[in-house]
Amino acid sequence: MESSFLCRSFFLVVLFLLFSFSTARDTITPNHPLADNETLVSSDGSFVLGFFTPSNSSNRYVGIWYNKITIQTIVWVANRASPVLGSGGLLSVASNGTLIITDQKSTVVWSTAGQSGLISPVAQLLDTGNFVVKEDGDGNPNYTWQGFDYPTDTMLPGMKLGVDRITGLNRTLTAWKSESDPSPGEFYAAVDINGDPEVYLWAGSTKRWRSGPLSGIRRSPPNRGVTVSFVNNSREVACSQVVSNQSIVSRVVVNQSGLIQHTLWSWESSQWSISWYAPSSQCENVGTCGNYGVCSSNDSPTLCRCLQGFVPINQANWDLRNWADGCVRETKLDCRNGSTDGFVKVSGVKLPVSANAVVDMSLSLDECRAVCLHSCSCIAYASSNISVGGNGCMVWVTALLDISMFPSAGQDLYVRLAASELATTSENRNSLWSRMKFPLEIVGLDLLLVILTVSLTCVVCLRWRRYRRKRALAAANNFFNEQSDEGTRRNDVDLPSLDFATIVAATDSFSPTNKLGEGGYGPVYKGKLGDGQEIAVKRLSKTSQQGTVEFKNEANLIAKLQNRYLVRLLGCCIEGEERMLIYEYMVNNSLDAFLFGQQTYAALDWQARYRIILGITRGLLYLHHDSRLRIIHRDLKASNILLDKDMNPKISDFGMARILGGEETDIRTKKVVGTYGYMSPEYAMDGIFSVKSDVYSFGVLVLEIVSGKKNRGLYAFTPHLNVVAQAWSLWIDGKGLEFVDESLSYTITMHEVLKCIKVGLLCVQERPEERPLMSSVILMLGSDIATLPEPRQPGFLNRIFPSEIDPFLNNEASNELTASLVGR
Ligand SMILES: *[C@@H]1O[C@H](CO)[C@@H](O)[C@H](O)[C@H]1NC(C)=O
Ligand SMILES: *[C@@H]1O[C@H](CO)[C@@H](O)[C@H](O)[C@H]1NC(C)=O
Ligand SMILES: *[C@@H]1O[C@H](CO)[C@@H](O)[C@H](O)[C@H]1NC(C)=O
Ligand SMILES: *[C@@H]1O[C@H](CO)[C@@H](O)[C@H](O)[C@H]1NC(C)=O
Ligand SMILES: *[C@@H]1O[C@H](CO)[C@@H](O)[C@H](O)[C@H]1NC(C)=O
Ligand SMILES: *[C@@H]1O[C@H](CO)[C@@H](O)[C@H](O)[C@H]1NC(C)=O
Ligand SMILES: *[C@@H]1O[C@H](CO)[C@@H](O)[C@H](O)[C@H]1NC(C)=O
Ligand SMILES: *[C@@H]1O[C@H](CO)[C@@H](O)[C@H](O)[C@H]1NC(C)=O
Ligand SMILES: *[C@@H]1O[C@H](CO)[C@@H](O)[C@H](O)[C@H]1NC(C)=O
Ligand SMILES: *[C@@H]1O[C@H](CO)[C@@H](O)[C@H](O)[C@H]1NC(C)=O
Repeated sequence: MESSFLCRSFFLVVLFLLFSFSTARDTITPNHPLADNETLVSSDGSFVLGFFTPSNSSNRYVGIWYNKITIQTIVWVANRASPVLGSGGLLSVASNGTLIITDQKSTVVWSTAGQSGLISPVAQLLDTGNFVVKEDGDGNPNYTWQGFDYPTDTMLPGMKLGVDRITGLNRTLTAWKSESDPSPGEFYAAVDINGDPEVYLWAGSTKRWRSGPLSGIRRSPPNRGVTVSFVNNSREVACSQVVSNQSIVSRVVVNQSGLIQHTLWSWESSQWSISWYAPSSQCENVGTCGNYGVCSSNDSPTLCRCLQGFVPINQANWDLRNWADGCVRETKLDCRNGSTDGFVKVSGVKLPVSANAVVDMSLSLDECRAVCLHSCSCIAYASSNISVGGNGCMVWVTALLDISMFPSAGQDLYVRLAASELATTSENRNSLWSRMKFPLEIVGLDLLLVILTVSLTCVVCLRWRRYRRKRALAAANNFFNEQSDEGTRRNDVDLPSLDFATIVAATDSFSPTNKLGEGGYGPVYKGKLGDGQEIAVKRLSKTSQQGTVEFKNEANLIAKLQNRYLVRLLGCCIEGEERMLIYEYMVNNSLDAFLFGQQTYAALDWQARYRIILGITRGLLYLHHDSRLRIIHRDLKASNILLDKDMNPKISDFGMARILGGEETDIRTKKVVGTYGYMSPEYAMDGIFSVKSDVYSFGVLVLEIVSGKKNRGLYAFTPHLNVVAQAWSLWIDGKGLEFVDESLSYTITMHEVLKCIKVGLLCVQERPEERPLMSSVILMLGSDIATLPEPRQPGFLNRIFPSEIDPFLNNEASNELTASLVGR
């Protein structure tokens, strides 16, 4: 009994002693510095301050880390660039209030600057993770120095990123150099206070990422209990994170990979979880799309497009997915007083770089518009206050850089355009309407009535005009809506209709001198409309049954497509027995005439050929991936590539094209149509076609363009006819350059030529799944040849052809013959 009591007392005493010794302090005073083997713990036990050694290093640093988190996570380092070598370091606060770190020889390795004027200074680690110096006394809010003013790579809740306008203090986050070296690395985040302030992430002297104007941050519901707060007033510009619940452990870090990331500690799984990081997509890299380019991750593979009314500065680079050159305005602005310019509204975007923007918080959006219109240098405007109805005007006077789609939290940007650019868009009609709504709300009833009457009249007029147009179209529609080819859906074709008399006049009654050639299903004529516009008229032969189907298919399809590398359909003419499609006229006719024609055209040097290859790639990419439909052309060949006056290629002849339905990747058909020499093995033999059969044809075409020879034969045993076999055998012998058209001699760029041959061979590989998609082809053409995979043997070379197919079907005289046969 007695002994057990003694025992218990003894234990209590021991416990008390242990407790009092292990109760860590949270302050240091001039008389009580912190040795290397000691730590400070904040009063609620959240944070620890002490000496630490990074992994793979022997240096000692004074840092702060979380106390209750099992993975040591350093959030702050005092002497990040001046370590203590070996143990024996000491952190102390001098009697004049400066913090000092000394090594074992009492040499000062680090100290804070400035005279504090304190009488009895104390340095304390607070529960927020802030290490402060102040006059001794509980709850004194006056700090003469605080760690939060000198962040390292981590922003804790309550810490500010930004600029103190009074003291000039500039709080930035700078990544560690490496995991073993906390000294400042090349990546850092800082607030740019010009224009509408934004956070920028820098890699050395280049901008990597930007947050978008901070005043535009939507007050979104807290993301897992964390919100971003932003202040801009005469004293400071700063953003910080605010947590709704003290149990949330949240930090924002600029890490050594150059990313800014937000992580939360998960108490359940005892690990950090990344809730957000940037840049996370190509669109988030500053300037991916250049000036006036709009970036949209969802749109891939076309990441960038130009703003409406703008075109790429360098089309060739743009086509190679090198968008950084950006776009230029197509039509000059009207700089007179009383300018006729207007604005197109671009919704849901991250606003362009605002450093050079002019901000006036007192103007309304309408006043903002007026200001912009009156200044010749104004390019765009936006509201700088996202609160509905709030004032705030931002005006850009320098090129718009780094606009990206940001559907969930984007803002509206109003881009100034010449009246002629605006006239053509429906978007404009919308914004006109939204501008009209404003007066409707505030003006008196009289004006309201006037406006109503006027708009009613307009509606009636429009209706009437539409009705008349409809009647004219009805004939065409009836025709197209009768059953069409198996693959195409029934669709209203809203094509301008030209009357027969116009076409007769334009083509000089289909005079033989105007005949350009023979297309898939009938002759093609050149014509000239009354206004001087040159056209090509494709007339359906009255006798052709198959032609009617193809004709409808073509009209149905191409009416929905628009791309600079597809030939443009201007209209149609359906009258009585006559069926005609009217196209833009291509001065330079078709590619085959240039490649295989008798004359040697000086125009088709290597640069021109390379441009043509790129153009065809773009056109095909559009068909396969970029248009609203997924389209297989099925008859890609040199004679179906037309050339405009600048030798830009345009894909034509969509008579056999097919639309792929939702999930379809390939289609099996009994009716194999196409042109021998360009047909992929699986299509010619088994009737299976997919985008990869177009890729095959594209490969053949590329090889033809490089060699200037036509692929006529199907077999390796007729090498003089088989361009693919020639290319393959020269390639594997390492003699690729011998394959090149002799007439090119001096003009070739060797690496481009070899790259094209390699890409061509990759496209004609036997197995469809090994052939690249067009989206990869465009990347390959833009990258270094060494990075491309090695091609395998092309299709057909090791196949035995079924006997019912005549191998010499499509040679010499029958270039244009399109075979149609029944597959097995
Ligand atoms: C820290 O080290 C010093 C000598 O280097 C020693 O006197 C002191 O007791 C140590 N303190 C603790 C808490 O280990
Ligand atoms: C530390 O060094 C070892 C050996 O040099 C290396 O394998 C390891 O990856 C390094 N760790 C870190 C975090 O740098
Ligand atoms: C404060 O005191 C320390 C140690 O006595 C000294 O090294 C430092 O220069 C002093 N700072 C100023 C601003 O006087
Ligand atoms: C903090 O500073 C303010 C202004 O400088 C002063 O009025 C106040 O008395 C100070 N508070 C303490 C506890 O020293
Ligand atoms: C703050 O520092 C960053 C990085 O050094 C710099 O880019 C920025 O211009 C500075 N801001 C101010 C207002 O000095
Ligand atoms: C930021 O604050 C300054 C000073 O109050 C003001 O002039 C400026 O217009 C503000 N900018 C924005 C975008 O609110
Ligand atoms: C804070 O979060 C914890 C765990 O998520 C929860 O148990 C607690 O009730 C929350 N406290 C408040 C005040 O919301
Ligand atoms: C940096 O952050 C990114 C994104 O969260 C992450 O994938 C990467 O591993 C981090 N790098 C380092 C060195 O921690
Ligand atoms: C532009 O026109 C307005 C009236 O329409 C006039 O008040 C203003 O002075 C003119 N500005 C210039 C630069 O001519
Ligand atoms: C934005 O507009 C709202 C509503 O008028 C106003 O309350 C708010 O103060 C404005 N914000 C700024 C930064 O001017």
